[in-house]
Amino acid sequence: MMTTPRIFVPHDAGALALGADEVERAIIAAAHRRGIEIAIVRTGSRGLYWLEPLIEVATAQGRIGYGPVHVEEVEALFDAGLLDGGPHARRLGRPEELPFLRRQTRFTFARCGIIDRLSLQDYRAHGGFVGLERAIALGPDTTIEEVVKSGLRGRGGAGFPTGIKWRTTAQASALQKYVVCNADEGDSGTFADRMIMEGDPFALIEGMTIAGIAVGATAGYVYIRSEYPHAIAILGRAIEIARREGCLGCGIFGSPYDFDLEIRVGAGAYVCGEETALLDSLEGKRGMVRAKPPLPAHKGLFGQPTVVNNVISLASVPAILASGADAYRDLGYGRSRGTMPIQLAGNVKYRGLFEAAFGLALGELVDDIGGGTATGRPVRAVQVGGPLGAYFPRALFDTRFDYEAFTAKNGLIGHGGVVVFDDTVDMARQARFAMEFCAIESCGKCTPCRIGSVRGVEVIDRIISGERRRENLALLAELCETMRFGSLCALGGFVPFPVLSALTHFPEDFGMARPGDAAAA
Ligand SMILES: Cc1cc2nc3c(=O)[nH]c(=O)nc-3n(C[C@H](O)[C@H](O)[C@H](O)COP(=O)(O)O)c2cc1C
Ligand code: SF4
Repeated sequence: MMTTPRIFVPHDAGALALGADEVERAIIAAAHRRGIEIAIVRTGSRGLYWLEPLIEVATAQGRIGYGPVHVEEVEALFDAGLLDGGPHARRLGRPEELPFLRRQTRFTFARCGIIDRLSLQDYRAHGGFVGLERAIALGPDTTIEEVVKSGLRGRGGAGFPTGIKWRTTAQASALQKYVVCNADEGDSGTFADRMIMEGDPFALIEGMTIAGIAVGATAGYVYIRSEYPHAIAILGRAIEIARREGCLGCGIFGSPYDFDLEIRVGAGAYVCGEETALLDSLEGKRGMVRAKPPLPAHKGLFGQPTVVNNVISLASVPAILASGADAYRDLGYGRSRGTMPIQLAGNVKYRGLFEAAFGLALGELVDDIGGGTATGRPVRAVQVGGPLGAYFPRALFDTRFDYEAFTAKNGLIGHGGVVVFDDTVDMARQARFAMEFCAIESCGKCTPCRIGSVRGVEVIDRIISGERRRENLALLAELCETMRFGSLCALGGFVPFPVLSALTHFPEDFGMARPGDAAAA
């Protein structure tokens, strides 16, 4: 029996921005003109954005990729025998064999870009719900201990052990508890949360359900930024499907556990990614950071015990439970266990998502895996961990991708965003931008951040213009110390990282001489 040829076209926002929908229409039209019946499967992205739209065809040799495909090339692709994986300049071969994918350890992203993102059948065929079924069989306490044992740490930025957070919430007694998924993804250069929600939404639903069962919560919310309309739409449809099929709601899979969830859309303030400001926003208030204690695990959403976890933390849990805590724990480096979806962005040749066990050297990531800059100019600086992360010069490229190694270099890995800059970057302007960003995004609750960031912009301006440079540098150091230790949350508290790293590693951009430079100013 002849099977209908299947063509996989990504429906990820990044691929759509590069014309995936237009390519899909051109494929349908070309097949129609030739009288060929085809089936189009919409997937997420594999995360090789420089090759998007990357389409794939199911052939006898496995899936064959073509990319980046432009609308005007579709007819020629059919002429070249696209449906049999025929030769063409855009033919990439088997995607798994591409070096960028071959070198990865796809754990959390194992299905992303491969399955039909809204097919529960496809999800199950690729290992979906094995973790949830195991969690139901293990019961809450053992499930939590598995997560503790796996060594999973929060991927939202702070790296707090997920299992310990769950245990704290489980031990709090209350009639109602909540699971809140932080899908605000505000860090510059990051897109891993969006990719999962668009490419493997059932993984997040399954992870949240496991969290709910583990801590005794029956309701969950996913807080997604409004700038993610595709993720909101796809996850919303996935929730409806899951509910219809009994994966959400009362008595999940015939168990005594109930869990359901809803999406809430945030208006797009960076500070609303901070967990307590997020809770305020969820409650319908203006997003302001709350003082801790109480921890959200004790008193969170609507005053009830609440687990707040990042998308990637939650979406990693099903695979951890399915493969066992040891399999995850065996990956990684030092106290950073498992894999990290690293997002290569900015001025880098191979932009995309690279999931790897912790421990890769920063230089390997940027020069080797990322291929250096897209402009072909030398890499000068790399900012890791979003707008509050430090700038790393080439001299620190031996730093391993690991929470502790980055902390030791006055940096942070945050949500895994790596933004690359070439030698045309002005690091004094980047330092100024960090302060300006803080001033714009500050929730205004504490003085060091609200006022300090505004004064920080002014002081950096004076340094740049050469006005009483020595005094202003001393003032900037003092200001950074006050912000670091006097701010209520990490927005004000961490902004000294980009500012001081720019100043320390690139003093010449501030009109200063490098230490040991004979021409010292
Ligand atoms: C200013 C600021 C912004 C933040 N933005 C995010 C965000 O966009 N997404 C996220 O998951 N965590 C963000 N965080 C971290 C959260 O406060 C919190 O630690 C995280 O959601 C906990 O989940 P995890 O343990 O799974 O990482 C932010 C923190 C701060 C201080
Ligand atoms: S550090 Fe900034 S964002 Fe955080 S609580 Fe203080 S004013 Fe608000």
